[in-house]
Amino acid sequence: MDKSIKSIIATSAEKNYDIIIGNKSLELIKKRKDILSRDRFALLINKTVYNLYKDYILGCFNEFKNYDIYLIDDGEENKSYRKAENAFNWMLKKGFSRKSAIVGIGGGVVGDFSGFVAALFMRGIPVIHVPTTLLAMVDSSIGGKTAVNISAGKNIIGAFHQPEMVISDMNFLNTLPDNEYKNGLTEALKHALIGEDKLYKLFCNNSASTIKSPDNIMEVVYRSAIFKSGVVSRDEREGGLRAILNFGHSIGHAIESLFEYKGISHGEAVAIGLKIELEVSRRMGMISDDETKKSFDLIDRYGLIFNKLTLDSGKLLEHIKYDKKNVGGEIRCVLLKGIGKPVYNHPVSGSLIKEILDDFIL
Ligand SMILES: NC(=O)c1ccc[n+]([C@@H]2O[C@H](COP(=O)([O-])OP(=O)(O)OC[C@H]3O[C@@H](n4cnc5c(N)ncnc54)[C@H](O)[C@@H]3O)[C@@H](O)[C@H]2O)c1
Repeated sequence: MDKSIKSIIATSAEKNYDIIIGNKSLELIKKRKDILSRDRFALLINKTVYNLYKDYILGCFNEFKNYDIYLIDDGEENKSYRKAENAFNWMLKKGFSRKSAIVGIGGGVVGDFSGFVAALFMRGIPVIHVPTTLLAMVDSSIGGKTAVNISAGKNIIGAFHQPEMVISDMNFLNTLPDNEYKNGLTEALKHALIGEDKLYKLFCNNSASTIKSPDNIMEVVYRSAIFKSGVVSRDEREGGLRAILNFGHSIGHAIESLFEYKGISHGEAVAIGLKIELEVSRRMGMISDDETKKSFDLIDRYGLIFNKLTLDSGKLLEHIKYDKKNVGGEIRCVLLKGIGKPVYNHPVSGSLIKEILDDFIL
């Protein structure tokens, strides 16, 4: 294999699959004739990505005639149960069957959506993920969680459905807007703080501009993919260990929900969540002042919190209490006993969180 292409084998109870990372690595999809020579395959593609990369994408499939293209508009609202039904109807009209397959090309919205459609269509057909945002490369394309939104809430309806392959083609990142970059860096930094030591060093030794060099950003994707797939292979269905991946997310999700998912990105909400959950860990005597400061400095150095936000601590606490991971009304978070030493499902008192929120200057 070309040295500029890296490859990881992700293991799961259902199947093992390759995660291929590299510039122009989408061209390697042609080798998956077992999937692309099924009776038909659907290319579910984000519309922005299609407009930017139409010739490149279609060039990678030029030896196949058995596919149809389904474009998905930008926005979380397109990852809905209703839109999934539209996709099922379209697939039936186009003659797709249980011998068909799906290739999803886009960010996490398209990844979650195509995984969900693949999991349910004819009780499950194969899916290949081609993530085109940094967040999707380092996080959402790995691990087999698929979901869509309903009016009552985000990611409520879903299924576990492992992909046949994940292709992270670094070429796509050339056009990724800066804030989307930051969303991905936040999830990668989370991996660094909860145990990916080499990634932690990479963050410590770089800056917001140098981390984007082709070699560094490929290393960020590679290290994150090794780390996340390793955690998931040990706990596919989130019975325990996989919960460490929620570091920063209990508070992050509550912030998104407080803002009704408008005016704040998932990455920025998680970056604030990381700071607050680090501070909870520090005030509970689990992580040192020095390690907390180092972690805060990294979040600041990479500019992961970029809006000036005012958080109403009382209202935010109400949203924190609704988290589905809480047990018996008690707030549970992932905390750190030190950098690289996460503890999941840890009880935290609401009054401590409120005290921190009241002291907090973002
Ligand atoms: N399944 C999981 O384990 C998991 C984990 C984390 C997040 N998620 C989900 O992921 C979603 C968020 O994903 P996201 O942050 O990738 O958002 P996204 O899919 O909405 O993409 C963000 C934006 O980037 C644009 N874009 C994508 N690729 C581009 C490119 N190469 N060049 C230029 N623009 C490009 C898109 O048009 C879009 O506007 C959420 O729905 C979240 O729930 C899932």
